[in-house]
Amino acid sequence: MKRDELILTAFEARKQAYAPYSRHKVGAALLAENGKVYTGCNIENIAYGPTNCAERTAFFKAVSEGERKFSAIAVVGGHEKAKELDYFPPCGICRQVMMEFCDYNTFKIFLAKTPKEYKEYTLCELQPVAFSSQILQKEKR
Ligand code: THU
Repeated sequence: MKRDELILTAFEARKQAYAPYSRHKVGAALLAENGKVYTGCNIENIAYGPTNCAERTAFFKAVSEGERKFSAIAVVGGHEKAKELDYFPPCGICRQVMMEFCDYNTFKIFLAKTPKEYKEYTLCELQPVAFSSQILQKEKR
């Protein structure tokens, strides 16, 4: 799937968001290396803590189905009543989940505010000075 279609899929996924508390609806479309796309939306909870971000919903759906390698994710979000969306960057926990399954230098993150207006980042740009499995391996030596 191409970038523009991935972004459109994130807009579609946002429609499923369950966000009665923040009223901010978020959608994500995660592209696996084999070409499959997994969608996600944020799922809030009255206890707040159990809330799951759109990005992690997409990752957990994919990983639970055996997927381990990913090439890109598109993310869109904003208040449900907003006339125009702004860029909605992934939270720190979602970035750390990306660190687990994605290539640091090549995994792409598309943040879109319209189907045509987007910004493109690599994981290393969004998560500099990252905590990764290599750090623990160094400690073992
Ligand atoms: N949210 C996401 O879905 N993704 C992020 O990376 C940032 C935050 C959701 C969580 C919550 O439902 C709402 O946005 C407001 O924080």
